[in-house]
Amino acid sequence: MHHQNRNEHIPVLLQPVLHYLRPQAGESYLDLTAGYGGHAGQILERTDAYQAAVLVDRDTHALQTLTRFSERGTRLIHQDFLGASQTLVDTGQHFDIILADLGVSSPHLDNASRGFAFGMDGPLDMRMDQTQTLDAATVVNTYSLDELTRLIKTYGEEPRARTIASAIVAGRPFSSTQALADIVRSVMPKGSKIHPATRTFQALRIAVNDELELLRASLPLWVRLLTSGGRLGVISFHSLEDRIVKQTFQDVAGDRYDAELLLLTKRPVTADDQELVFNPRARSAKLRVVVKK
Ligand SMILES: C[S@@+](CC[C@H](N)C(=O)[O-])C[C@H]1O[C@@H](n2cnc3c(N)ncnc32)[C@H](O)[C@@H]1O
Repeated sequence: MHHQNRNEHIPVLLQPVLHYLRPQAGESYLDLTAGYGGHAGQILERTDAYQAAVLVDRDTHALQTLTRFSERGTRLIHQDFLGASQTLVDTGQHFDIILADLGVSSPHLDNASRGFAFGMDGPLDMRMDQTQTLDAATVVNTYSLDELTRLIKTYGEEPRARTIASAIVAGRPFSSTQALADIVRSVMPKGSKIHPATRTFQALRIAVNDELELLRASLPLWVRLLTSGGRLGVISFHSLEDRIVKQTFQDVAGDRYDAELLLLTKRPVTADDQELVFNPRARSAKLRVVVKK
């Protein structure tokens, strides 16, 4: 199997992204989750318009790896994509190609010190933006039983949310991912296919990074940032995100004659077997694309 080192991130659904976003020479590009520049590198190679590109990421470490683009005139923005998009709308900017590849990157998951992984011991952090104050330890150690239950239920879609939240409240304070994963495992039935803490960790991550609200508020701005003929692609990694993307695209890209957008993907595009062999993390990725009329 392909060996992934700690700082490598393989861009998911790269071929479908290039197929649907169809980068042409001279086109402008906005990458809202530039990460390690995997998609951006491939797209900018084709547009060859580095000065007409803007790359956004809220992670300082990711931003530091993107200087190869800024050296060629690309603008880098270290901010969450809602704030960055609002500024771009306010300054009247438009883009031919916009991509959001949501969620965490492989270096987030592979570096125990970022606190995203339940398989490795690390601090209870989970912040994508290292300058943010709210972290997972604060959520786990200070939220009420009811707040924790609601959060694990809605963001983790975890049927045993109350049992898990009760165990957390009884066992806190927690400072490590391992200790938290252990307490969750101790109250879960044996023999599940996924790690028993998967859903709880997903819920905490979404809460710490306010992932769903930022996505919901940003999608209409992304539509406004498109040029006529511009393409917007969004890659999501779990059903809560995909539902928001699907619903927003349906609202603005219906079959009505006056719809602002056309939906290019009737069904979400997923990874083929070949991609899954070298990048198992692509298994839950879904790409949806719209084009502005
Ligand atoms: C899946 S990775 C993107 C990888 C990138 N497409 C590549 O090929 O290298 C997602 C990135 O989005 C960033 N991110 C997630 N949510 C964000 C948000 N709301 N605002 C800005 N960046 C965000 C994360 O920090 C992470 O680096």
